[in-house]
Amino acid sequence: MAVLQGAEAKLYLGGDFYGRPCIIKERFQKNYRHPILDKALTSQRIKSEVRANLRCRIAGIQTPTIFMVNFDTNSIYMEEIQDAVTVRQHINTVQAAELNPASACSQLKPLAEAIGRTLAKMHTSNIIHGDLTTSNMLLEGDPSELSLFLIDFGLSSFEASAEDKGVDLYVLERAFLSSHPNSQELFDCILAAYTDQTQDKNACKEVISKLDEVRLRGRKRTMVG
Ligand SMILES: Nc1ncnc2c1ncn2[C@@H]1O[C@H](COP(=O)(O)OP(=O)(O)O)[C@@H](O)[C@H]1O
Ligand SMILES: [Mg+2]
Repeated sequence: MAVLQGAEAKLYLGGDFYGRPCIIKERFQKNYRHPILDKALTSQRIKSEVRANLRCRIAGIQTPTIFMVNFDTNSIYMEEIQDAVTVRQHINTVQAAELNPASACSQLKPLAEAIGRTLAKMHTSNIIHGDLTTSNMLLEGDPSELSLFLIDFGLSSFEASAEDKGVDLYVLERAFLSSHPNSQELFDCILAAYTDQTQDKNACKEVISKLDEVRLRGRKRTMVG
């Protein structure tokens, strides 16, 4: 069984749950935290993950099916997405294969739009992901089919505020531009699709202006620091 070691969890890949491909995401103990606090935080992350996974489903966003939770071992048993690549891996592959950045961008544009539409649905349902990165988005099967899954909801919350949604997008922007340098144009495609897809135009404007505000705060901080 392959094991992936993350910052917060170990992932056991290639298992099966009554005949269905299954991964086990086991959150491990943080020894620097008080054990009681650690246990409470870990359970909270697991609950947030399960809750947001299901809420996304209801909103029409693909997420891995959760089969079972074991609070004694801090493990979530969930569907293993078959032939999955992370969006991060896929963008890197396309950018590495294309010498011309403009043609890599046009090749990746449909994916950026799919991401924007998915995040619009998510925020319309007041789900804040909390850790949006291109590693927390999976493409199932042939990447050109754009079968996008969202994962890793341990830091998620349920919030209606424009501020939280703006911060969610800002987290993605920072992660996106540091994982994929010179990809501002691609990120702008995500935002354009997000804006197009969001029905409530006023609410969306508010989110984007919060994003601008947080960007400015971020910039001031780096200028001072
Ligand atoms: N359901 C799944 N199916 C296939 N691969 C997965 C699944 N969940 C996670 N992975 C892989 O494991 C990695 C880490 O999982 P993730 O839930 O993001 O945990 P972490 O908190 O360690 O980032 C993902 O980036 C992805 O490559
Ligand atoms: Mg992750």
